[in-house]
Amino acid sequence: MKIQVDTNRCQGTAMCLAVAPELFDILPNGIAEVLVDDIGPDLAATAEDAALACPAAAITVIGD
Ligand code: F3S
Repeated sequence: MKIQVDTNRCQGTAMCLAVAPELFDILPNGIAEVLVDDIGPDLAATAEDAALACPAAAITVIGD
């Protein structure tokens, strides 16, 4: 399972960081970056929560 951030949609609201600081950081340019390449089952729900929390709908969770 992977997470993608659409950098064209991201507005830097950092809700992803608030919901899942183990999965996201915010780059100096204000755009989210994904910290984990391959999301295990233990973090799948957290990843989905972060995607739902993003007001710009910039986060996509891609299953295996
Ligand atoms: Fe960007 Fe959405 Fe996170 S706007 S900073 S991906 S909550």
